[in-house]
Parts: sequence; C-alpha cells; structure tokens
Amino acid sequence: MCGIFGCVLKNGDAAPLIHAALKRLEYRGYDSVGEAIIHEGKLYVKKDAGKIDDVHALLNLDDLPGKIGIGHTRWATHGAPYKVNAHPHTDCKEELAVIHNGIIENFAELRKELEDRGHILRSKTDTEVIAHLIEEKLKEGLGLIDSVRKSITRLEGSYSIAVISAKEPDKIVCARNESPLVLGISEDAVFCASDIPAFLPLANKVVIVENGELVVLNHKGYEIRKLADWSLVSRQPKIIDWNPVMAEKQGYPHFMLKEIYEQPKTIRNTLRLQDQYLELMTAFLDRAGEVSLVACGTSYHACLAASYMFSKLAFLATHPIIASEFIEQHGRAVNIDSTILFVSQSGETTDTLAAVEHARLRAATVLGLTNVIGSTITRVARVYTCQQSGPEIGVAATKTFTSQLSVLAQLALRLAKKRGKVSHTEIEFLEEKLEQIPDVAEALLKTQSEKIRQLSKKYRDKGCFFFLGRGISYATALEGRLKLLEIAYIPSIAYPAGESKHGPISLIEPDFPVIFVCPKDGTHRTILSNIMEMKARGASIIAIIEEGDEEIKRFVDDYVEVPKGMPEILSPIVYVIPLQLFAYYMAIERELNPDMPRNLAKSVTVK
Ligand code: G6P
Repeated sequence: MCGIFGCVLKNGDAAPLIHAALKRLEYRGYDSVGEAIIHEGKLYVKKDAGKIDDVHALLNLDDLPGKIGIGHTRWATHGAPYKVNAHPHTDCKEELAVIHNGIIENFAELRKELEDRGHILRSKTDTEVIAHLIEEKLKEGLGLIDSVRKSITRLEGSYSIAVISAKEPDKIVCARNESPLVLGISEDAVFCASDIPAFLPLANKVVIVENGELVVLNHKGYEIRKLADWSLVSRQPKIIDWNPVMAEKQGYPHFMLKEIYEQPKTIRNTLRLQDQYLELMTAFLDRAGEVSLVACGTSYHACLAASYMFSKLAFLATHPIIASEFIEQHGRAVNIDSTILFVSQSGETTDTLAAVEHARLRAATVLGLTNVIGSTITRVARVYTCQQSGPEIGVAATKTFTSQLSVLAQLALRLAKKRGKVSHTEIEFLEEKLEQIPDVAEALLKTQSEKIRQLSKKYRDKGCFFFLGRGISYATALEGRLKLLEIAYIPSIAYPAGESKHGPISLIEPDFPVIFVCPKDGTHRTILSNIMEMKARGASIIAIIEEGDEEIKRFVDDYVEVPKGMPEILSPIVYVIPLQLFAYYMAIERELNPDMPRNLAKSVTVK
C-alpha cells in the first residue's frame, strides 16, 4: 500500500514535517521509511528498513536542512523490506529522487532495457526504474516536468509518484494513475500525500488529484495538467473538517467499514501480481499429486473455497486443514513428497507456523501465501506469493480475505491452463470475469449497502443465525458466520446446506433467521429446495442472490442482490461482501466497536 508525502515550504525545515507526516501515514505500511530533501542544490537521502521510530532513533529523520522534500513509508510488494529497497529511489548520479505508491507491472522489461543502456539499478523494487527513466529524459535535455511526463507514458500499472531533482531545486513533480494522491494547501506551504491525514494538522484545504494528471508544486502553489492533452486543470481546494482520528479512517467511522469499501481497489492490486511468482507457484502445484491447504480463521475459509477452485478447474485434489489440527491429524503422513500451501494474512500466526515448522522438518515442499512480505512465512517457504492488500487494521479480516481468494483463483486458473483440463474458451471467460470483479464489487457496495443496513435494524435482536450454502458457497457461508460471530457476538452456525437436515434443522422455529448464499450456479435448484424446507418450518429467510433471481425472491423474506453473471468459482469473492457489511452493521446496531472485538487479536501468536 505505502504512504507518500512531499512538501514545499516558504519557511522552516521540511525534514521534521516529513517525519511527522510519515508517522500519520504509518498505517499504510511500516516495512521501511525514507526521506529526500534538496538543500543548496544538493540531494540528501536518509532511509532504512524498520518502523519509523526505530529508523528515527538511528538516523534522526528531523536533522536535515532544506525547504523542499519528500518522504515514504513502505508496504513491501516488490523486493524484501531491506534498506536498499526503501524509498526514495535515486538515479545513477543520485541527483533525483522518486517515491511511489502502486505497482509497476512492466518493471521487469523496463529494468532490462535500462540495464542494457548501462544504468545501475541498486534495488529489487519496481519503483527504481522510474528514477532511471526520468534520468534518461533529463540526459536528452528535457526539463524535470517534461522528463516525468514522458517517463510515465512508459509505465503500466498503478502509481502515485513524487519526484525531486537537485538540478531543479524549486519544485516537486507528482503524478497519479489509480493510486491515491491529494494536495494540501496552506498559507505557507503546499503538500502532496497519499492521504489527507498526512498534512491535516497543517492544512485543511484539500485538492484531489485525478487519474492521468500531473502536478507541479512550488512556492507559488500548485499547477495541475491532464497528461492526455497537457491542458491546464482548474480545481479549487475543498475545506475538510475531519479531526485527525476521522482522517486516518478517511472519513469512515471504523477501519472495518473503510476496509470493506477498499475492496474494489485491493482486489485490483491483487490481480496485478507478478507473473513469475504465480508461475513458480503453479509449477510446484502442478508436480504435486495432491496438496494440503493449511491456515487458521478466515484464511482457512479461503483455503476451503480454493479446494473447490483447484478441483473444478485443474482437477487437483487439495485438502483444506485447520492449522492447529494439522500436526495431530496429518503430522505423521507428511513426508518429502508432500506439498503444502500455507495461507496466512499476517504470515505470523503461531499455529500456522508450527505446522510450517513440522512440514519443513519432514522435508515437505512448503509454499506460502501472505499479505506481509518479510513475515516468517516469506522467510521459510520454498516459494511464496504476496496478496498485496495493504495493511488491514480492523481485527476482522475483510479485504485480505477477498484478496486471498483472488490469488488462489489466479493460481487455479493458471494450473487449469497448464494441465489443459478445461477449454480455452472457459478459461478466457473466467479470466475476463476475474478482471471485472473490482467493478462488480464497487457496484455492489454502491447499490446494496443501505439495504443491508436496514436489514441489520430488522434483525438486530435475533439471538442466533444460521448460514447455509452449497458447493463453494459453503465457504462463503462459513466466513459470513465468522464475521457475525466475532464482531456482533451473535452465536451462529454455518453448514453445507445439504447437511443441514442432519441435525441443525431441529433448531428452526418460527422467525428463526436463516441466511442462504445462493449464486446462480449448479447448486441453484437444490438450494431452492433447502430454502423451501426452512420456509416450511417458519424460518425467516435472507438470501444473497444474483440480481433479478425472481425464482428465489418469491420465497424469501429479504434478499440482497449481487450483480449478474459471476461464475460459481469466483462467486465467494463477491458474495461475501454483503455478509461482511451485515456483520458490520449488526455490530453497530448492537453498539459494539467492530474494530476491536473483545478477546480477539489481529495476529494470534500463542498456541
Ligand atoms: C486471527 C484473526 C483472524 C485471522 C486469523 C488467521 O484469528 O482475528 O481475522 O483470520 O487470525 O490469521 P492469519 O494472519 O494467519 O491469516
């Protein structure tokens, strides 16, 4: 995710201000920190791996003269969290510095091209290529603004960047495509940042930079141009009256809600994973006879959904296993031929790591999927891939779950392609649908949130909920149940709908709430029968359905509609969103703080 910040001051030194701003952006990443400042025509850089306070204790981030500077706090995506990969990144001559938030998809080609031309790239990051591309243009005799403008036409992917150069020490040039960029304006300074809290104590006049725009900041203020035709944009600042706590949550009352709404963006990032990681992981999965998928909590639900994906698309048998049971249940069966994919958002969950250690001692192939580069899983796995969701602060996992599913779906699709088990037409169709998910999620959030909020008012006093789904939707039902249980403290049950007759149906009495997850897939007809069974016993039915599914609408008390056309195998990524919102609003109705559920921790580091 990363946080970027830049400032042009009329008076005083930029360094302490950058340091304070980065502290306010620390929630966007904390793998490394760095700043670059121009003073008397020279560029000074301080950076290192680690949390801001630790790096400050070592380098004193406040101690640099100069009125113009940039700073960065990093959430690693390309390159481990080492000093060399910390931003800012510089050109060969160390005269210009770049900070970046986003992912440059074509960086490997650009890097090769630059190295062939004699550039020395020091880091493993995608960002560093930007500094060298700009250097090339400056060498051709262009000014800094034109050099940045020309260089970014070469970039594919997402970025918000800020650039300073010792050769033109009076300005910061920044630009945006997809990753956020805002400007802050005060009497004495102009700022650019990933997010408003960075400058909120200093400026409450805000200008939002749009995609495809380049901005120049200098002592006179700011100038925005459209990259497409270089036309000048006139955009007046808006006054923001958030307090600093609200600002960190970008105006949302809780991190959980912010993170639910972030999903279109985070899934988009996850769909930009680098080919080479996915290919390597796919190669390991391909050579395995069968694969264990080991995780805890929400990550386990992602594994369960993935077992349907791998079996249906790639004809690969995978076994989802709860990490704390792994050694007892399968410990002795693990050997040199075993392949195990460990899934952990934090990469640090003790039960998962104990299972990893056991697998390593028995010489199994250990694969990892995590959100935190540099976490234990990334250090011990034979191959790992990162999900690129950015830090998640709400204790209940939301955006990291949909990203895990998106990575696992990409792996299943690659494996399917490699194994030739399903037709090209089907794979292409699914790839296209996967690409559309961020837009589908956005539409869903826009159209259904209010309805879900009203449902939470209607059902707020219910003492127990029953979640049912068939096929891959069983995993969605389990995750919906977990959300409600953990943040609204409502004891709830989730079952595969077919199994509900073997016990839990005895709970049903008039008005007992049953939530059905029913996308229009191969299980549709049967789930309709399960709805009828519950209805016949007087249950109140809430169904998560595909938009316009009249057949189901007729029989249920309430429904939430998900945009049409989501294939079965991808459906959990979208169908879980209404359940996340339902749990959130139920917690609010019951006057609970969804960000801090009692007795729970974001990362569980005890057995
Ligand atoms: C805790 C968190 C859950 C999470 C689980 C596994 O219980 O509260 O949200 O799903 O740990 O965490 P991991 O980081 O391994 O995915």
